[in-house]
Amino acid sequence: MPIYEPHLDQLLQLAAQRGGIDFITDLAAPAAESDAIFIAVGTPSMSTGETNLCYLEAAARSIGAAMDDSRFRVVVNKSTVPVGSGNLVETLVREGIRGAHPGNQKRIRFGVASNPEFLREGCAIADSLYPDRIVLGAGEECMQVLRELYQLLVEQSFEAPVFLPRPAGMSRVPVVTTTLTSAEMIKYAANAFLAVKIGFANEIANICERVGADALEVMSGIGLDGRIGARFLNPGLGWGGSCFGKDIQSLLHTAREYGYQSRMLEAALEVNRAQRQLVIQKLQEKLFILKGRTIALLGLAFKPETDDLRDAPALQIAERLLQMGVRVNAYDPIAMESCRLIHPNLKIHYCESPQEAAEEADALVLVTEWKQFAGLDLADLAKRMCRAILVDGRNLFDPEVARRAGFDYSGIGRPQRAAARTDNPAIPSTI
Ligand code: UDX
Repeated sequence: MPIYEPHLDQLLQLAAQRGGIDFITDLAAPAAESDAIFIAVGTPSMSTGETNLCYLEAAARSIGAAMDDSRFRVVVNKSTVPVGSGNLVETLVREGIRGAHPGNQKRIRFGVASNPEFLREGCAIADSLYPDRIVLGAGEECMQVLRELYQLLVEQSFEAPVFLPRPAGMSRVPVVTTTLTSAEMIKYAANAFLAVKIGFANEIANICERVGADALEVMSGIGLDGRIGARFLNPGLGWGGSCFGKDIQSLLHTAREYGYQSRMLEAALEVNRAQRQLVIQKLQEKLFILKGRTIALLGLAFKPETDDLRDAPALQIAERLLQMGVRVNAYDPIAMESCRLIHPNLKIHYCESPQEAAEEADALVLVTEWKQFAGLDLADLAKRMCRAILVDGRNLFDPEVARRAGFDYSGIGRPQRAAARTDNPAIPSTI
């Protein structure tokens, strides 16, 4: 498996056993045999925030070239593309058909649909099999094919894999049927809303910290309000990953093209940028001069259960610390290999364990809330360090437990209590 995604290997094995999956690099045969052709290519950002559609364009042309007149086909866009790209796909498929079948293009029938993807990395399989909703944007002829295709998922009548049983109480999945443009917009609006929601939690957390309130209690207090909802309100070091930043930039770009400035989305990006600086500020408050110190990072991936490092806060934090003359130790259960490969210029000292990372460090920063970190013996970690300072960037640890273990603990949006000793009594202070 070229990426780390829980259960993906098991799912592919299952598909292979049932004879249901092939991997091929030649589009012609599968496109000719299929009723629905999904485009799921990458749509990266350009420096202007605009989406780079070159992969989508190439895919649409090749699909057109591979089509024949044996049946009606739906070209389904799964990639996140700027509003209006459905029309572009249609034009390019037609172009592909014209190039490959001059004179015959009228007999080749197809439609374009939008079926945006809402899965989260780390729980991608569960999100795909047991989704909150399915969004279909298409005309009636395409819609019929898609309804049939998704029937088992909508009715939840497929046999759930043993490694990922169906959640209790899960029944019919709601289907939103709409136009192509609205479906494309739903994807952007959903990601923008989630990013704004997390940004809001971070803003409130920063105020909580100043007034002595506990952001976690505040978030569970507001999350119980059905209009707000408890999910995606965890304050931390800011969101990362391949979607939120890219999608907000793209939506801002679309809005600008139509003469609209979205101040709220601009603020969401700005709040997130600032949130990532918090670790450095907190370390400076505790240690004053950072040059020459050793800082241990626990976690590199942008979130747990993935090895994805795209827009990961850990990279920015490590880069800033290295620029400041800090020795950066890091441990991540899965993402170290990709970090080494993709970012060879980041002179991080990769460690075999959290304990090795903590050895003689001046501070420990929890960047990614991997489950296994929650079970760490904090007293043991504290003893290994020069100074037992813990910046918990994801509020993973109980502050009291960490303080009892000897740490000078600070989380995000959590009140500062009477500080525990920062110097490890077992090791002579080097300040
Ligand atoms: C996101 C969307 O959730 C998904 O619907 C879309 O299809 C792709 O983009 P993903 O980026 O895989 O999914 O992960 P997600 O779980 O949304 O987390 C994104 C970032 O937000 C992570 O860095 C995570 O640490 C952060 N986050 C999430 C918070 O800081 N607080 C939260 O409460 C939730």
